[in-house]
Amino acid sequence: MTYHFIHIEDPETLSIQEGEDLTCCADEVVIDVAYAGINRADVLQRMGFYPPPPDASPVMGLEVSGRVKVAGEHSGFSAGERVCALVHGGGYATQAIAKAACTLRIPEGVNDLTAACLPEAFLTVWYNVIVRASLKAGETLLVHGGVSGIGNIAVQLAKSMGCNVIATAGTPEKCEILQSLGADICLNYSESSLTEQCQAHGVMGEVDVVLDMVGGDFEQFNLECLAVDGRIACIGLMRGGQSTIDLTQLLMKRATLTGSTLRRLTPSEKARCFEEVETHMMPLVASGAMNPLIDRSFDLGQALEAQTYMASGSHAGKLLLKCG
Ligand SMILES: NC(=O)c1ccc[n+]([C@@H]2O[C@H](COP(=O)([O-])OP(=O)(O)OC[C@H]3O[C@@H](n4cnc5c(N)ncnc54)[C@H](OP(=O)(O)O)[C@@H]3O)[C@@H](O)[C@H]2O)c1
Repeated sequence: MTYHFIHIEDPETLSIQEGEDLTCCADEVVIDVAYAGINRADVLQRMGFYPPPPDASPVMGLEVSGRVKVAGEHSGFSAGERVCALVHGGGYATQAIAKAACTLRIPEGVNDLTAACLPEAFLTVWYNVIVRASLKAGETLLVHGGVSGIGNIAVQLAKSMGCNVIATAGTPEKCEILQSLGADICLNYSESSLTEQCQAHGVMGEVDVVLDMVGGDFEQFNLECLAVDGRIACIGLMRGGQSTIDLTQLLMKRATLTGSTLRRLTPSEKARCFEEVETHMMPLVASGAMNPLIDRSFDLGQALEAQTYMASGSHAGKLLLKCG
């Protein structure tokens, strides 16, 4: 079988290239890719703003679903098993290599399209909301970008834990989607100030954890909406990487401001999180309690069109590439 992958000629030109079938190490698997998830980081990589680490595949794509084609000797997987995985680049292709420790079996009843939405969102949400920000059952979580590929999973995980969920989006239509996902309070950031909207709902100063993918001028609001001992987990900078904040709020609220990027987690941290999401998150999808929000999928050859659509910001939910 021939291996095909998307090559970046220049930021506005992507081509499909051909190569030899992939091989893997003993602790890895080669996956025949059915779908690849599209992430913001891919858009940045294409534009030259997010070069992959030296040991990563130069091909875009951080997550895939499909079937194991080759199972490394110590991988614990067998050829033919349905899996989804976080990959070290290389997802925009018909084959991809994944560490066995970053590969999850797809439960029966969960299709490949849905499975490709999971690895990046599961890891990002679990590591930031649960491990770093320690969200507990019954607490209040505020999720910025609630209908994003990442945000919708955070909303649904928190609801499954019995948390109160506040989420933001930029249009009334997206706020309606948030409500259908179970969010208790939906804030339209394009309408009026988030502070005023939280005050109207009586939740200013009541938020235990903020999952923040926006930063910039919203950082001060993030601090102000926090309860005492509140935590902010920063994962993205959609409104910019610079902000001016009143540190008095940090002191008075004993607040914690943390952040992370998945690519910088050590292999052992990733492996530990994968064990935890397999135990705590995958069963939610298998039982239908969590339904990843999907906007649409594109063919592999439409990768540029798909990324242009993501950059436009008009999508709601996950975008995917059909690779198989
Ligand atoms: N740190 C990590 O390890 C990690 C891992 C994965 C993803 N991320 C980050 O998580 C974010 C979501 O990723 P994704 O792949 O799910 O992308 P996505 O679906 O495109 O989501 C982007 C979200 O940001 C919101 N947004 C965009 N511009 C905004 C603005 N000016 N003000 C307020 N909200 C704005 C959008 O909300 P509306 O559509 O409602 O405007 C949208 O929900 C990205 O920033 C990504 O870089 C970080």
